[in-house]
Amino acid sequence: STVTVTDTMDRPLRDLRISLTDRCNFRCSYCMPKALFGANHAFMPRDQLLSFEEITRLAGVFTGLGVRKLRLTGGEPLIRRDIDKLIGMLSAVDGVEDISLTTNASLLTLDRARALKAAGLNRITVSLDGIDDNTFRAMNDVGFPVAKVLEGIDNAEHAGLAPIKINMVVQKGVNDHDIVPMARHFRGSGHIVRFIEFMDVGNTNGWQLDQVLPSREVVERIDAEWPVEPLEPNYRGEVAERYRYRDGAGEIGMISSVSQPFCGDCSRARLSAEGKLYTCLFASAGHDLRDRLRAGASDADLAEFLAALWRRRADRYSELRTGETKPIDTRKIEMSYIGG
Ligand code: GTP
Ligand code: 5AD
Ligand code: SF4
Ligand code: SF4
Repeated sequence: STVTVTDTMDRPLRDLRISLTDRCNFRCSYCMPKALFGANHAFMPRDQLLSFEEITRLAGVFTGLGVRKLRLTGGEPLIRRDIDKLIGMLSAVDGVEDISLTTNASLLTLDRARALKAAGLNRITVSLDGIDDNTFRAMNDVGFPVAKVLEGIDNAEHAGLAPIKINMVVQKGVNDHDIVPMARHFRGSGHIVRFIEFMDVGNTNGWQLDQVLPSREVVERIDAEWPVEPLEPNYRGEVAERYRYRDGAGEIGMISSVSQPFCGDCSRARLSAEGKLYTCLFASAGHDLRDRLRAGASDADLAEFLAALWRRRADRYSELRTGETKPIDTRKIEMSYIGG
């Protein structure tokens, strides 16, 4: 049975984003800069991670409160072993309508893609910040070649996970020269490139407003090459604004959390790999579910705790953001910890 809980701004709880690990094989400078995520960085110890059974149990409690969509994230979720097993367990949870995965695709072999699909994965979203090999190698900062990611995308397509969404975080002066080439590469492929405004997530990426290229300008650059027109949202609260190429070559999206915040419809909760729940991407504190689980809380206890938490929720960080972040008086969670 499902009850609908709404928060102080009348927003229901519909999506749960589940981070499976805080580790990643890339070191994107805006997410896990090498200087801070080097050999000495303390990642979560494995026994601190929620087990697949614990994640599945929590998913069941969340669907009871209205959640219908699950997204698996990281760090890099494919670093965690046997996630097809977890996907199989999650697909069997009552109320789950959609399971997707956000990945850098570097570890996405054809066998793995097929196993994920067979287990019940509906879709994948691939993070890819450049199509020019040199730009991409510099962005991931481990010299990972773009061709290998494109191979991962092909594998996903062959396994039946298409259409695939491709997320490009745009940083002015860093990879914005690759916007049009990116659009060119994926036009006509059936995949959907989404351009994301660089956000001030976490405390380590040195975000400044002048590094943000507003989506308006991204649309203008693409429209100048291949005219585009807006499309209606697929569903209420969709994060990306959709556009189609007028010549029929497909669709692109703009995620404009800085220039056009979308907190008003935000129905997302985020669960960290160690079982802390965050009601906003920019939250500074999470709510421990793992200790409650391990202390023997019943599903009803957990549901009651979560419903009360959601009812109190007032987060709307992106609507309140100013031109500067203050790393000294704010301790936000890191992107690699919560998966975007
Ligand atoms: P679909 O179900 O395919 O529509 O997924 P989605 O677009 O909601 O998920 P995805 O993980 O692809 O989100 C794309 C990016 O948008 C994320 O990586 C974040 O950078 C950003 N984003 C998603 N949700 C939020 C949010 O709640 N707040 C903010 N500020 N940014 C978000
Ligand atoms: N701003 C915008 N998007 C970001 N992502 C990671 N860090 C940021 C940021 N600072 C994106 C990744 C990936 C998703 C999980 O979040 O590129 O697509
Ligand atoms: Fe890894 Fe994604 Fe962070 Fe890059 S943005 S370091 S691929 S988790
Ligand atoms: Fe939701 Fe927080 Fe993002 Fe606003 S800033 S859309 S409340 S996660």
